[in-house]
Amino acid sequence: MAKMWAGRTAGAVDPVADDFNSSIRFDCRMYQQDITGSMAHAAMLGAQGILTAREAEQLIDGLQGILEDLNSGSLAFDMGCEDIHMFIEQVLTQRLGDLGKKLHTARSRNDQVALDLRLYLREQIDQIRDLVCQVIRALADQTEGAGDAIMPGYTHLQRAQPVLLGHHLMAYAMMLLRDLERLSDCRRRMNRSPIGACALAGTTYNTDRRYEAQRLGFDGICRNSMDAVSDRDFCLELMSGLSILMMHLSRFSEELILWSSWEFQFVELSDAYTTGSSIMPQKKNPDMAELVRGKTGRVYGDLMALLTTLKGLPLAYNKDMQEDKEAVFDAVDTVKMCLQVFAPMVATMKVKPENMKKAAQGGFINATDLADYLVKKGLPFRSAYKISGQIVAHCIAQGQVLETLPLEVYRSYSDLFDEALYQDIDLTACVRKRVSEGGTSPASVEAQLAWVRQRLEKEENP
Ligand code: ARG
Repeated sequence: MAKMWAGRTAGAVDPVADDFNSSIRFDCRMYQQDITGSMAHAAMLGAQGILTAREAEQLIDGLQGILEDLNSGSLAFDMGCEDIHMFIEQVLTQRLGDLGKKLHTARSRNDQVALDLRLYLREQIDQIRDLVCQVIRALADQTEGAGDAIMPGYTHLQRAQPVLLGHHLMAYAMMLLRDLERLSDCRRRMNRSPIGACALAGTTYNTDRRYEAQRLGFDGICRNSMDAVSDRDFCLELMSGLSILMMHLSRFSEELILWSSWEFQFVELSDAYTTGSSIMPQKKNPDMAELVRGKTGRVYGDLMALLTTLKGLPLAYNKDMQEDKEAVFDAVDTVKMCLQVFAPMVATMKVKPENMKKAAQGGFINATDLADYLVKKGLPFRSAYKISGQIVAHCIAQGQVLETLPLEVYRSYSDLFDEALYQDIDLTACVRKRVSEGGTSPASVEAQLAWVRQRLEKEENP
């Protein structure tokens, strides 16, 4: 079929080039947004007297019919079309005759595609936000369930100081709450209407861009028509936010993988989110967590791909920009898939507090508290630190632990030690004493949990 834009040329493109040029394979997913946008456009043309009220009404009815037929599956996409915009216009013209050809008055595919993409991604952000909320909810529930369960807190992946498991989980909840904020910020800036910018310079018709913007639920319009059709920073912002979100998920995934290993056994993931090995009968592999970790690279790649595509592009629209969609769609699809398994995986994970406690006991994790004990008795911290280090070295050499080292040995290092030291280095006491705001004491973790729940409530019912 001759191209809709045939005129200046015959519109007879080499079939391979035609296929190369076409985007309908991936932009057909925006058909609802394309039709919604066209309905608003037809209504505006009617309201402004650019088309008659009757014509506008017929166009809207025609578009509604196409929407219903695509939804029901009775109308199939024509993959021979260049893109979704051309396809909808072609069907409309088949159905309404010459009237269908009037829809594209005072519009260009350049502002149309920018509009569709903003409408589509706006919805995707809402869906992703809901899924992130589900992960935060699972973290909050696990924190509540964990109570005062103690685990080793690590730095350099070496046992550092005892912490509550809930404290560790709340750290991720805080990160994810910031991810939600980033998504909301991005949505707010994205929610400006580009439609009416036309090809790049605006139009000679007496259009009303604000009418269209309002009808489509935008907070306002893009104020410069060249900016409106040229930039894809809203895609980049979204992909940056998604990359950071995935980075957080990948760190938690890595910990779940470690924690569910035979060496740690801090948690057991539900059978529903693990797999077996085809040859080793003993295996229970944390595939889902590994995939989330792995797919993080893919989302970073999508961001880098579009950043690179846009680099150095002159204004305004260039066909290079058609490459935006596969990248941003892949990022959105990937993140949604990851979150859909992540939330229930966290919710169903079984914690093994005895194993965590055992790990916390073996590693001189209370050595800081031993030093603090001496400080309390009047020794400067640096001196206390040195003595505690010597005692740890002694224990390691003798195969002993701080909890059971006899008092006379302690006293051979400093006569400030007395019986009370054993209470101070008890793990429960170590945790309970860390009362600074944001610290690991049960009261502090409870306060963090209450705050997270409150924020979550607000995020879920904005
Ligand atoms: N399929 C195109 C894209 O995705 C739509 C815009 C085409 N505009 C143009 N002037 N060729 O970017």
